[in-house]
Amino acid sequence: MEFRTRPAALDDAPAIHAIIAANEQLWHGLVQAVPDAVAADLQRPLINLDLDTRVVEAAGQVVAWAWVHGGRRAQLDVHPSDVGRGLGTDLLDWAEARAREHGSDWLAQTVDDADLAGTKILRDRGYEVLATNWLLERPVDGDEPMLPDGVTLRPFETADAHTVHQVIQDAFDEWQPRRHEYDEWAGTSIERDSFDAELSPVAVADDQIVGAAISLELPGSPNGYVEQLAVRRDFRGHGVARALLTYAALEAGRRGKKTLTLWTHSGTGALAMYERLGMRVRRSTTVYRTQL
Ligand SMILES: CC(C)(COP(=O)(O)OP(=O)(O)OC[C@H]1O[C@@H](n2cnc3c(N)ncnc32)[C@H](O)[C@@H]1OP(=O)(O)O)[C@@H](O)C(=O)NCCC(=O)NCCS
Repeated sequence: MEFRTRPAALDDAPAIHAIIAANEQLWHGLVQAVPDAVAADLQRPLINLDLDTRVVEAAGQVVAWAWVHGGRRAQLDVHPSDVGRGLGTDLLDWAEARAREHGSDWLAQTVDDADLAGTKILRDRGYEVLATNWLLERPVDGDEPMLPDGVTLRPFETADAHTVHQVIQDAFDEWQPRRHEYDEWAGTSIERDSFDAELSPVAVADDQIVGAAISLELPGSPNGYVEQLAVRRDFRGHGVARALLTYAALEAGRRGKKTLTLWTHSGTGALAMYERLGMRVRRSTTVYRTQL
């Protein structure tokens, strides 16, 4: 079979999502990836499509892709019907070379723990484990959220955007290596087609937003999905996060969803909290890193 490699275009987003979805279907029997995630990623401010992305085509079909974000983080996916043809190794060579061009001395990549072939390629190359991501789930029934005195919940409104950005990024700054400025944050959250304001509560105290959950709608999926959750530091430890999650879960249940899901990263230290809130791990991915 003849393979052709070229930079990705925005129009490739649905085909790239289809590769990611085919792998999730194979490994987990269920697709979790949100359809508009790839388009949002390809439009991130740090991405130059010509330099930072590649797709591999066979007979006019996109069968694999890769990108390098900020010179430090790569993702690559090969369609299940084309694994074992060396496409992943070629794309990894490209990603490492691209990261070096950026002047980066390391490169990280997240791999589904069910992706045995991808995991083997990275381990054989000497990549080391940097972190774990867990996909957590909780039921969508239960009691109405309990709130501390003076705190109320209501759905996100457009006028909240800049304050919610600040609350979330201030909280994420505690563990995230790089702050996402407003445009990047909005482009990957509230400006996405899948963003669902009704399922995205904000917590308000004295007319100030002190916490927020950002939810995305996965059409046709049995899962409700929270993309981000944060509580302002001076309001922590009073059940605000618990209330935000419960609100999102009950609302998702009213929409006919079966579970509420979210991803968390070992760097946040939040796994223990989510387990206290009755969430359980459904599956995981591993972040691998290599020195270049
Ligand atoms: C994680 C975060 C949202 C928790 O907010 P919070 O309002 O303080 O959480 P709650 O008060 O609702 O706590 C809920 C439960 O989790 C427990 N908990 C909270 N943080 C915890 C932690 N780091 N480890 C273990 N348990 C924790 C609480 O004790 C409480 O349990 P209890 O009701 O049985 O006493 C907040 O600390 C935050 O914004 N952190 C930074 C952003 C972040 O990491 N977000 C999650 C990324 S996926």
